[in-house]
Amino acid sequence: MTDRLAGKVALISGAARGQGAAEARLFVDQGAQVVLGDVLPEVHDVAAELNGKRPGSAAAVALDVTSHDAWVGAVETARRQFGRLHILVNNAGITSERYGGLQPIETMTLEAWNALLEVNLTGNFLGIRAAIGLLRDTATPLLATNPRASASIVNISSAQAIRPSPHQANYAASKWGQRGLTKVAASELGPVIRVNSVHPGPIDTPMIHDMLVSSLDVLVSLQADTPLARVGTAEEVADLVLFLASEESSYCTGAEFLVEGGRTAATVLRGER
Ligand SMILES: NC(=O)c1ccc[n+]([C@@H]2O[C@H](COP(=O)([O-])OP(=O)(O)OC[C@H]3O[C@@H](n4cnc5c(N)ncnc54)[C@H](O)[C@@H]3O)[C@@H](O)[C@H]2O)c1
Repeated sequence: MTDRLAGKVALISGAARGQGAAEARLFVDQGAQVVLGDVLPEVHDVAAELNGKRPGSAAAVALDVTSHDAWVGAVETARRQFGRLHILVNNAGITSERYGGLQPIETMTLEAWNALLEVNLTGNFLGIRAAIGLLRDTATPLLATNPRASASIVNISSAQAIRPSPHQANYAASKWGQRGLTKVAASELGPVIRVNSVHPGPIDTPMIHDMLVSSLDVLVSLQADTPLARVGTAEEVADLVLFLASEESSYCTGAEFLVEGGRTAATVLRGER
């Protein structure tokens, strides 16, 4: 199927690499125009690649999701360059890597706690708040003739928000917070804007790639605890996000969508495979 997002405009945070870049590529393949935001300058390279494929399909902005002003600027870019906004993907996120790594609560610093809450959760709140006006202005007239034309917000949470593991209270709390924010936003913003959360399991992106290749033990245990017996790819997450961004999911809001190889559904009996 092609052109599943024909005529739509999307804003994606954390689009310089990993899942955000995969979503931007897929969205453009499917006919969308995309504003890509990130703190990394490589976001301009991804936008240039997309404009090389389809001229006028992408714009890059410097976006730190913890900044209200930066969000206002990103939404303004969508308005100025493309005149409308149908989709917001709150994808940017961080782990504890730069804040002492995985830590039990007893030794976790307040800095490590606050940093993850600020990027992973407050970043979503600021993005939603900044985008509501343009999403609403875009979708309201469309809904008059097409009840499936709601705008769509997709918050990228984690399987850690369904089944958390020890030593990442800050990450798990930020990702659980996204579930609550998603449900409240869905109840406030319907019927004009739908809001859903996506819960990936381990996905081979720069976020965890070094850990996957540096420790065979980690990889083997991830595979052993996953019914589908492998880590996922950014493209597999992007396929789900595309569904939620498109009119194919027009009766879905306030819901949680797993893309985690079955990790939270089952206890895999080791040695049975
Ligand atoms: N990779 C996984 O195993 C995994 C699993 C579950 C959930 N997730 C979630 O998926 C999302 C995407 O992660 P990924 O796997 O692509 O990781 P990634 O590290 O490859 O990409 C994250 C992107 O977010 C950007 N970013 C970080 N802080 C930012 C900020 N303050 N403002 C703007 N951009 C910022 C980074 O520069 C990077 O480009 C994150 O929310 C992450 O928590 C990832």
